[in-house]
Amino acid sequence: MVRLACFVSATPCFCSVCMKRVKLSKRLMALAEMIEKDASVADIGTDHGHLPVFLAQTGVVKRIIASDISAASLAAARNSAEAYDVPELITFLVTPGLEGITHTDADTVVIAGLGGETILGILEDAPWTKYHHVTLILQPQSKIDLLCRFLYDNGYEILQTKSVKDKGKYYTVILVTGGKGI
Ligand SMILES: C[S@@+](CC[C@H](N)C(=O)[O-])C[C@H]1O[C@@H](n2cnc3c(N)ncnc32)[C@H](O)[C@@H]1O
Repeated sequence: MVRLACFVSATPCFCSVCMKRVKLSKRLMALAEMIEKDASVADIGTDHGHLPVFLAQTGVVKRIIASDISAASLAAARNSAEAYDVPELITFLVTPGLEGITHTDADTVVIAGLGGETILGILEDAPWTKYHHVTLILQPQSKIDLLCRFLYDNGYEILQTKSVKDKGKYYTVILVTGGKGI
């Protein structure tokens, strides 16, 4: 999309008047609220890419990786980013879980909308998430107890859980930190 110059800026403009804003669901907003300023964020299983696009538009984070195991899902994320004019602010990656991503790429990992067992498997395959000071923002769709047990047993620290009601359904969001290991 080509933007016209506005009254605030003479060049293609990112001001709030000109910029079309992505609207997050309540569930995704609950995740976004847990992300700290200047974080380097990886959104694993991003699908539509709404969260990365929102973060790119707000400009509060340093780096954003949007990744998905499915090329078609990642194409949808790229389309969203293009529709909202922020593709250059996001790194797109087709990869299973956290393969190819390390703590030097992301200090904050979001895994939302996947089953608890799948999230557990992704963390198991990326032990750096527990040996480094990484923030994990997890929103399992199922098997929450199994995921929590895995986190406790493997030295992660659960800092906060919150419940969010979105379109009549309840979701649990878990804020976790690595860095202790066992
Ligand atoms: C229901 S969508 C969730 C989208 C978004 N995270 C959200 O919460 O709205 C699940 C996405 O996870 C992806 N996915 C499933 N297993 C995955 C894995 N092991 N690694 C990366 N992505 C995965 C799927 O391709 C799909 O795009």
